[in-house]
Amino acid sequence: MHHFHYSGGRLFCEGVDLAEIASAVGTPCYVYSSATLVRHARVIADAFSGQDVLIAFSVKANGNLAVLATLAQEGCGADVVSGGELVRARRAGIPASKIVFSGVGKTAAEMDYALWEGIHQFNVESAAELRLLSQVASAKGKTAKIALRVNPDVAAGGHPNISTGKAGDKFGVPWAEAEALYAEAARLPCIEAVGVDVHIGSQIGDLVPMRAAFEKVVALALRLREQGHDIRRIDVGGGLGIPYKEGDAPPPPTAYAAMIADVTKGLGFELILEPGRVIAGNAGVMLTTALYEKQAPDRTFLIVDAGMNDLIRPALYGAHHDILPLAEPAAGQGRRTYDVVGPICESTDKFATAREMPEVKAGDRLAFMSAGAYGAVLSSSYNARYLVPEVLVDGDRYEIVRRRPTFDEMVGLEKVPDWLTMTA
Ligand code: LLP
Repeated sequence: MHHFHYSGGRLFCEGVDLAEIASAVGTPCYVYSSATLVRHARVIADAFSGQDVLIAFSVKANGNLAVLATLAQEGCGADVVSGGELVRARRAGIPASKIVFSGVGKTAAEMDYALWEGIHQFNVESAAELRLLSQVASAKGKTAKIALRVNPDVAAGGHPNISTGKAGDKFGVPWAEAEALYAEAARLPCIEAVGVDVHIGSQIGDLVPMRAAFEKVVALALRLREQGHDIRRIDVGGGLGIPYKEGDAPPPPTAYAAMIADVTKGLGFELILEPGRVIAGNAGVMLTTALYEKQAPDRTFLIVDAGMNDLIRPALYGAHHDILPLAEPAAGQGRRTYDVVGPICESTDKFATAREMPEVKAGDRLAFMSAGAYGAVLSSSYNARYLVPEVLVDGDRYEIVRRRPTFDEMVGLEKVPDWLTMTA
């Protein structure tokens, strides 16, 4: 459920007419709904009520400070994968005690900073990382609480590019090596192994592979306890899918929570969740303006002012985003079939192929739906385009929470060396 709806023939985000934002901010831009973010965070919290759970929002899905601050107010923690994401989470008011640090390539400097902050847990992904963390923690005189992220060799995820739990994936510690690495962790100074972590992919529409992975992880955790390790946390990662189009029916959070309760019940584990998409995905849209129609022999292109640099999911994963006009189509309005493309000089700069939708005229404004996760965070300024701005709506008010940069800001980090300017 989200808070984008037509009212009086106009598409609204909560109480704000999206056309008003498009005019005031310009397109392309992202718009997020506070009520939807809050609702999704609460739906998950309610589904897990009665279970000992930390909901660590996956900052990679949407790292905007205002979005993070909204979720911080709901009591969410954060799952971060870089020092930068850790700074963002802290700036947004998320306490370090609710932050877990995942990722295959943590640097010594990032470990040092996270130890200084006193984060809840490091999710360690290799033997080499574990040894370095022990050294960095020892030098600081701090103890790092860790879970090993294990690779359960279970396939899941909506697209090969977002499946992470198979043996050939770069993520996690190989299953067969996990127990030996926990034994090593017990011997290493300044390391305290407190949990087991797993994350098998994203946009998962089926609880079966998740259950298979979690059962393996719980069995491992129980074996580790028998071996004398004080394993008290299970981090189940993120990955729950969301509906992107009519007919999509991913498992509801209640079913996900019931499955996890069933797999972990009575065992005294603290749960950590790392949801990203399920909280932010349907809480955001990207607005664009139609520029031109162009007829090719076999198709009609609709060229819009947003590009793959603003929303890369269709180019990278063949992802589907519904496209809704901001002015609600009248009953009986003509329908057309378009290839919807952006202005970038890449053939993959295509948002939709042969999409049947209400007829669009140049100047019409459109919303790419379900763009709140892995949208603005993956944007770039390729083709020297302005980094896409972001807006947060709350009821009938809105605020630009990342403004469009100026051209000087865009090139502000660049320098033409003196030897090139002196020859003029
Ligand atoms: N935890 C870990 C360790 C992860 O790697 C991820 C996502 C999450 C949690 C959050 O997963 P979620 O609940 O959002 O599925 N850019 C891709 C998705 C990449 C997901 C990367 N990892 C997309 O746009 O579909």
